[in-house]
Amino acid sequence: MAAALALLAVAALCCGPAAAALPRLEHYTAKNDGSLSLLVVGDWGRQGTHNQSRVAEQMGRIGEKLDIDFVISTGDNFYDNGLKGVNDRAFEESFTAIYTAQSLQKPWYLVLGNHDYRGDVLAQLSPVLRKTDSRFICMRSFIVQAAEIVDFFFVDTTPFEKKYWTHPGKHHYDWRGVAPRGKYIANLLKDLDEAMKQSTARWKIVVGHHTMRSVSDHGDTKELLKLLLPVLEENGADFYINGHDHCLEHISSRDSPIQYFTSGGGSKAWRGVFQPNKDKLRFFYDGQGFMSLQLNQDQAQFIFYDVSGNILYKWSSSNTGHPQPSTNLDDEE
Ligand SMILES: *[C@@H]1O[C@H](CO)[C@@H](O)[C@H](O)[C@H]1NC(C)=O
Repeated sequence: MAAALALLAVAALCCGPAAAALPRLEHYTAKNDGSLSLLVVGDWGRQGTHNQSRVAEQMGRIGEKLDIDFVISTGDNFYDNGLKGVNDRAFEESFTAIYTAQSLQKPWYLVLGNHDYRGDVLAQLSPVLRKTDSRFICMRSFIVQAAEIVDFFFVDTTPFEKKYWTHPGKHHYDWRGVAPRGKYIANLLKDLDEAMKQSTARWKIVVGHHTMRSVSDHGDTKELLKLLLPVLEENGADFYINGHDHCLEHISSRDSPIQYFTSGGGSKAWRGVFQPNKDKLRFFYDGQGFMSLQLNQDQAQFIFYDVSGNILYKWSSSNTGHPQPSTNLDDEE
């Protein structure tokens, strides 16, 4: 816990008004070799139900083994309707009391999902939550600069999807500080473009809630392909990491080097939908699980795990031409 608090203090100090308008956090790795390891989980907050607790337990075990530096959440942090306020019990019941392993007592960098937007967004963004649990660092769009090798660009993707604005159905979306949509998105894309242009990091990784490419229930998000993808392509993004579809996926672009990773298996899964798109599907698992990412100057390695911590799939950047889907569920390395 002490280590996590120290890291958080560093992160908090470094969040100043940099040249770009997006808030920027610096995360120093403790590892001597300058490498970085982390876990990615999405679509999780269900008071432990739907295998959330089993995924959490295995995250703890793998987190320990990989000596992780932090955790990334791809959003939909609290079902069904985000947080009701800063005192909502869901915060403890779905986060603090679930991710209890020692290895997970590190900063959690979180984006918001569409379900979070159905609650009190300002509460979920409030630093007051850190008094209850210091790990929780949730912002709309921000940058985490880590270990001097990677810049993570966290992007608030919910406002992009037009249907939440035009066809909210019975749901209410909390657009305070966001509306009007067009202006918010234009500013965000400009800030992101500037920040990415300034980045000198070896790796540029973009994280959002919504799918850009997906073969599961939600499929591709056309607003992101139209508006966000060009900024990523223009600025040489290596990877786009998302949740939203409750599964694990790796898809390669046909027309750019960008790789898409979905880690949305934090709780409810098994949707049973498979709809291929035009990009190159490398891996798809419809059940619960999570992802690890290990990075150094030379290589980025992604691994997907199921609810029992079995390795489902491994891919590393250095063998782009020869991906190594691991079908041996007992393979621990
Ligand atoms: C929990 O995970 C197991 C193993 O994948 C699966 O058989 C079971 O259906 C899951 N439970 C739920 C509620 O999804």
